[in-house]
Amino acid sequence: MTGSDPKNRPVAANDQAGDTAADEKVVHWGNALPRALPKGLRSLNLPEFEAGWVWLVGAGPGDPGLLTLHAVNAMQQADVVVYDALVGEEILGLAREDAEMIYAGKRGGKPSPKQRDISARLVEHAKLGKRVLRLKGGDPFVFGRGGEEALALVDAGIHFRVVPGITAGIGGLSYAGIPATHRDTNHAVTFVTGHMAGGNVPENLDWTAIAQGSPTIVAYMALSHLPQITQLFLEAGRPPSQPVALVRNASLPDQTVLETTLQDAVKDVAAAGFTAPAIIVFGDVVRMRAGLDWMGALEGRILNADPLGLKTQDEDSA
Ligand SMILES: C[S@@+](CC[C@H](N)C(=O)[O-])C[C@H]1O[C@@H](n2cnc3c(N)ncnc32)[C@H](O)[C@@H]1O
Repeated sequence: MTGSDPKNRPVAANDQAGDTAADEKVVHWGNALPRALPKGLRSLNLPEFEAGWVWLVGAGPGDPGLLTLHAVNAMQQADVVVYDALVGEEILGLAREDAEMIYAGKRGGKPSPKQRDISARLVEHAKLGKRVLRLKGGDPFVFGRGGEEALALVDAGIHFRVVPGITAGIGGLSYAGIPATHRDTNHAVTFVTGHMAGGNVPENLDWTAIAQGSPTIVAYMALSHLPQITQLFLEAGRPPSQPVALVRNASLPDQTVLETTLQDAVKDVAAAGFTAPAIIVFGDVVRMRAGLDWMGALEGRILNADPLGLKTQDEDSA
């Protein structure tokens, strides 16, 4: 495989015996990953990070254990790591010691780098023949502008790979003991951003249709617009008593969950001094937390095997 071969992909183990194209180089964990990894993992055929390529990699919601093996493989090989604000130190610590680390997020109220500057930087380093890892929180293609960055690479003729990550709207909920879907509460879920580039609630969204069309709504970047969003949902007919949960710093040691209702959310958030980053979930599925808060159970919470009260209803009607 040459430096610009677009077939930079894992190769099945039996390909090594001769089925593989002659110019294709097979790289194993053993080449790419630290010796400290368990032996079994080294036999996986993970791809080589080719010089001059950019990998757009999702780092998950925060817990390093939620990184994919592809992400760890990328960290071990990258020459340059361009990372966002929500990627933690422990994850960054997996980069090669001599890797160049470039911060591309917003911190301490300072203005964030322009998207086009970030994309230009990726192109510039790739053109220098570097292995460029663009490390983004959650999944690069979920409210993360990964698509824009990838298109800039296409425009510049740079080869790239995308490594999905666990998005906060799914993984973060799991860590709060809230399933994104559950048969008894919702067969659909809507993911929505509460924030436009200009800082307002997205106006090009039909909020009434969203409120009426999906029993569960998971909102990213919505905390600062919670008053508007709850008002829109109430006006669209969602019940004031509908459960709402906010999950801050999901999957991290200081994860905090606030359970409230549509009518009380704004008041309760203010009273708790709840701050970003947070995922907000609206819908009856939040009630499942009484049975599924596995992190709470680690600290002694007694879980309810019938959080929706369905068995109790059955018994009452029997
Ligand atoms: C720019 S978006 C990036 C989303 C990311 N690409 C993903 O798939 O999770 C940032 C927003 O994601 C949510 N978020 C990301 N990580 C989070 C976490 N650990 N806990 C709570 N919310 C998180 C918050 O709503 C935050 O404002």
